[in-house]
Amino acid sequence: MTTIDRESSQRSRGLSFQDLLDDDTHPVPPVLRWQSPIDSGPTSVPADRYTSREFHDLEVAKVWRKVWQMACREEDIPVVGDHLNYEIAGISILVVRSAPDVITAFHNVCLHRGRLLKESTCRDEELRCAFHGFAWELDGALKHVPSHWDFPQVTSNWCLPQVQVGLWRGFVFINMDPDAGPLAEHLGDLSAHFSQWPLEQRYKQAHVAKVLRCNWKVAQEAFMEAYHVVATHPQLLPGIGDSNSQYDVFGNFSRAMTPNGTPSPHLQWEPTEQEMLDAMLDRNLDDPLVFVVPEGKTAREVVGALRRKSIRPVVGDAAADALSDAELCDNFYYTLFPNFHPWGAYNRIVYRFRPYGNRHEMSIMECMYLSPFEGERPPSAPIHFLGPDDDWNTAPELGLLARVFNQDVFNLPKVQAGLESGVATGSLQNVTFANYQETKLRHFHELLQRWIDAP
Ligand code: FES
Ligand SMILES: [Fe+2]
Repeated sequence: MTTIDRESSQRSRGLSFQDLLDDDTHPVPPVLRWQSPIDSGPTSVPADRYTSREFHDLEVAKVWRKVWQMACREEDIPVVGDHLNYEIAGISILVVRSAPDVITAFHNVCLHRGRLLKESTCRDEELRCAFHGFAWELDGALKHVPSHWDFPQVTSNWCLPQVQVGLWRGFVFINMDPDAGPLAEHLGDLSAHFSQWPLEQRYKQAHVAKVLRCNWKVAQEAFMEAYHVVATHPQLLPGIGDSNSQYDVFGNFSRAMTPNGTPSPHLQWEPTEQEMLDAMLDRNLDDPLVFVVPEGKTAREVVGALRRKSIRPVVGDAAADALSDAELCDNFYYTLFPNFHPWGAYNRIVYRFRPYGNRHEMSIMECMYLSPFEGERPPSAPIHFLGPDDDWNTAPELGLLARVFNQDVFNLPKVQAGLESGVATGSLQNVTFANYQETKLRHFHELLQRWIDAP
């Protein structure tokens, strides 16, 4: 880890994220003090990696079929016999709670004549195909073949083909490559970053998936930087230090830390603490004032205190008192290659992006809220699917974020259209990344290239 030389690294004017932490009313955890700026990675990549079918096919062969990827949460399949399908680029993986403490994953295909073995989230005592009734035990052992006398070639060792499973903080990961190293190797130090934010002690309060008319990387990259805030979400500027964000890279993951309750350096005027608070809470001009910043207090202190109070009954006094204002106010968005985006602290967000079916020009964006709970674990929210033309506001479970997502996804089909036009005419050969503020994109593309180039 190194310390940023702010002069030589050409950072934005205004406070750095580290300066802001110095004024926190509570001690900040060491993880927020770590700095690891990118020291390599491309500042431009070919535009056709977002538009080309050939590149998509390479990603399927070299990435999706080989990399660890988040399939679901453990609590999505809490009881023995619960199962769901994880779909990635036309490949279907069946994830099963095969014993109280065992999760197993299989290629979701019947070994008779190839029907998808299971097509929906369900609870079953066995894995029986609906076509002719071949059945397997929950651990993949062959259980029953109707008219078995007619299949002398089908012996008891006709087990369902398994894929690797790994668990991390309540998430279930799968890997189709039998030669892949363990999940822990892929994660690297990610656990150290989340040691004080135990995601395994959360439940899935909301899960919304929306189909988008753009390549999955176009969608994902719109959520990996705060550089777009000034143009896409101008209403947030009084309360967000967009270009004061800190960006770091660590092995297979990157993170951004974007402060809230501090004005954007892009603003040409100085907002009051009340205006910062209103922007943080996305208050419309004609909404009544709900929270007032008292004289001598800052917006960060007020929001920190409000959220600390609301979380206290859930996490307990000791944990609530230990939380810094930063952990209660700011955005800590991590990206584990290739497509898993858990947010740190108590922001609750987890994103996942992937191709829609096996399409290279369409994708699925998912937003989950992982929330702490008191007492018994509440049931995991089922996926609420939105089509490409559905407004995010039809998912009220996302609260204030739905409005912000509408602003984000408004751009995305137009990015795809522009890329396709530019690539077709040769007028756009490369897309260009900011040196610092698009650190996470540069890091992602460095890793992607490494995976594509691997033998
Ligand atoms: S295809 Fe599954 S039992 Fe025939
Ligand atoms: Fe955004």
